Amino acid sequence: MKIIEPVTTKEFDQYYALRWRLLRAPWKQARGSERDADDESSTHLMVLDNSNTLIGVGRLHFNSIREAQIRFMAIDYPKQRKGIGTRLLQALEARAVEHGASRITLDARETAMGFYRKLGYSPQGPGHTLFNSIAHVKMKKEL
Ligand SMILES: CC(C)(COP(=O)(O)OP(=O)(O)OC[C@H]1O[C@@H](n2cnc3c(N)ncnc32)[C@H](O)[C@@H]1OP(=O)(O)O)[C@@H](O)C(=O)NCCC(=O)NCCS
Repeated sequence: MKIIEPVTTKEFDQYYALRWRLLRAPWKQARGSERDADDESSTHLMVLDNSNTLIGVGRLHFNSIREAQIRFMAIDYPKQRKGIGTRLLQALEARAVEHGASRITLDARETAMGFYRKLGYSPQGPGHTLFNSIAHVKMKKEL
């Protein structure tokens, strides 16, 4: 397994396709809905298995000089609960530290709260509800 930044057009195509398949397609959202305006200025990481198949994605961007935010974390279904999300989150956190962050915020799906809690994030209150169905909780970690 390795964690790399997408560079080529093919890598970015695969990266956004997995983001869409895991985080948008189940709610019948069109291709393109998986992207936002911060993608251009974000750090993107992708996880490849030993056969170079893409199995995970995640993104880091800065809200201010000290505050980074993680979004669009997704590990492909058959690979979940094997520690891969943990390694990806730690890699994103390392990038945040490298670039001067002192805290990380995120909006966790309620179903993923346990994951972030285990990795040191604490709930800060309710967040938005996506597609009228996915409740989020605001979480934060001081680095
Ligand atoms: C949430 C997600 C990124 C976690 O990645 P992962 O590789 O499955 O997580 P890990 O195996 O590293 O989990 C580490 C620990 O976090 C906890 N954990 C992981 N997923 C959890 C979940 N959905 N609910 C509660 N706790 C969870 C467990 O304690 C787990 O340890 P254990 O398996 O030994 O009990 C991944 O499951 C995923 O992509 N889910 C679907 C998309 C999603 O919800 N993305 C997050 C949007 S905010």
